Amino acid sequence: MCGIVGYVGERDALPIILQSLKRIEYRGYDSAGVACITDNGIEVYKDKGKVDDVIEKITNSKSISANSGIGHCRWATHGAPSKTNAHPHLDGEGEIAVVHNGIIENYLSLKEELLSQGCTFVSETDTEVIPHLINRGLKNSVNVEWELKEAVKEALSRLTGSYAIIVAAKGFDGLVAARKESPLIIGVGDRENFIASDVPAVLEQTTRVIYLDEGDLAVVKNDSVYIENGGAEVTRAERLIPWTIEDAEKGGYEHFMLKEIHEEPKAITDTLRGYVTGDEITLGIDLGIEGDTKVKSILMLACGTSYYAALCGKHIIETLAKVPVQLELASEFNYSDFVLDGANVVAMAITQSGETADTLMALKKAKRYGCKTVAITNVVGSSATRIADEAIYTGAGPEIGVAATKSFVAQLVIFYLLGLQKPLVAKLPDAAFLEYLEELRRMPQIARLVLDEANGDIQKHARYLSKYDHAFFVGRGVNLPIAMEGALKLKEISYIHAEGYAAGELKHGPFALLTEDTPVVAILTHQASQNIYEKMLGNVKEIKARGAPVIAIAEEGDEEVEKYVDAVIRVPRTGAIFSPIPNTVALHLLAYWTAKERGGCEIDKPRNLAKSVTVE
Ligand code: M6R
Repeated sequence: MCGIVGYVGERDALPIILQSLKRIEYRGYDSAGVACITDNGIEVYKDKGKVDDVIEKITNSKSISANSGIGHCRWATHGAPSKTNAHPHLDGEGEIAVVHNGIIENYLSLKEELLSQGCTFVSETDTEVIPHLINRGLKNSVNVEWELKEAVKEALSRLTGSYAIIVAAKGFDGLVAARKESPLIIGVGDRENFIASDVPAVLEQTTRVIYLDEGDLAVVKNDSVYIENGGAEVTRAERLIPWTIEDAEKGGYEHFMLKEIHEEPKAITDTLRGYVTGDEITLGIDLGIEGDTKVKSILMLACGTSYYAALCGKHIIETLAKVPVQLELASEFNYSDFVLDGANVVAMAITQSGETADTLMALKKAKRYGCKTVAITNVVGSSATRIADEAIYTGAGPEIGVAATKSFVAQLVIFYLLGLQKPLVAKLPDAAFLEYLEELRRMPQIARLVLDEANGDIQKHARYLSKYDHAFFVGRGVNLPIAMEGALKLKEISYIHAEGYAAGELKHGPFALLTEDTPVVAILTHQASQNIYEKMLGNVKEIKARGAPVIAIAEEGDEEVEKYVDAVIRVPRTGAIFSPIPNTVALHLLAYWTAKERGGCEIDKPRNLAKSVTVE
């Protein structure tokens, strides 16, 4: 997500803030900005583009003399990347400046309320309500510090969602910071202090760091740090960070890919957060559905990992909403003589980056056919969103590793939401809808369980898998695409030749390749029909009879499976249609640890591959 930084001390604030922002650039962002507290009040410089561009603009205009200020790298979530949507945001009177990382879920109702009180808004962001709310709480008392702290607390009590914020105010020589469900740290210096969303932002200045806890609010001045939680002062320990800047960028993980796999639970939470309120799912797009008569089918267009997510999405939507979904590889669709009556078809482009050339072309072609078009993407303002009529955003945050991991899981979440979206599931009884929604809400916890409890076994099995040069991944139904994703991930980062295959299809050819040197990873978690599990067991027996070793992905408590396979990776049991989530986390880990075990693999930047494929 976004990165935020703050400085208060005796040195020139601006170069320090800009240097801190440069240190968190690696996370990916689309715009940057700073606000400094000067003798003239709050001065803001922000724009779409890179920190360097912002620096250039500032140094080209004039020097700014300030000892405190805040900065922001924005990864757009509400409103396209632009100068007005970039942070910091101000209240209407220029008294308060705020940088924010997170999502304010109830910003629309707050905005309406503030508009009715005469506030004016300039951006499309959720953040802009915060400085306005803080300003409302100011009472012009003599104790500026106390008053600001109380006004921030009052404003925060109105927010639902997640935030890490830093607040600067005219006439106050410190900063106020607070967090809820978004990380925030304080870097402790000598007669100066730093605030940041990420440790790398402060490491060039200090290795003394205080991690703020959930619900903490801090008043940070050059010579003091005051922290309170729930209205009472609290003490938080100062730690010495032994990391290099490079270690810190990866949050202590050896690779971005591993860090991003560990962020999969959060990617699920953040994707749900945008669209689920109470028992309501609101994707905020117009699918042109009147009753349940208008959309006859959905056409999905995607490449690579996004294609496998879409294939899984097809199963999910067809099962839950009973709407037929046709899926095409974007690179093939562009050159097919496909005949399509677009009138009743919603075409969806699934693309993490929103920039994949083949997918963009396919989207344009679907538009020409007269389809209503939707981009499902992780990047606000990307090309796909500009071409499509509507956009649905995954909440995965920036993904640095070339191998898509958390963005894939976030795409699956969107398909569950689409499958459960009210107009589409008009026929699903309320009780069943609520049961599915409840299960969907459990998914962050399920994903975390895999990371916490299966990781050790997965590392062990990865050591075994890493000794082979060929592997098969097999599954059925909703887990066939997950087998394909597991194989893609393995080949991409470990360079082991891996094929994802329908378990029932092996006997139609690939059996010829099975030997004791071709391990098979088989997904044996249960699905809606018991029949599929039985069929998978049958396929496993066939595979074993041909001498190939089998690693099963199976649920906790399934003892039957032990009889037929060589090794088992255990995942928590879920409602049947939801097993792709834990299975994906397990297979992402398996690919990672196998590549690590092989050695010599550039895991974050596999050879010959790019994060966005912008050529056909
Ligand atoms: O950005 P997109 O989702 O459109 O990218 C499509 C593929 O290039 C991408 O999913 C690729 O297969 C992954 N990096 C593989 O992990």
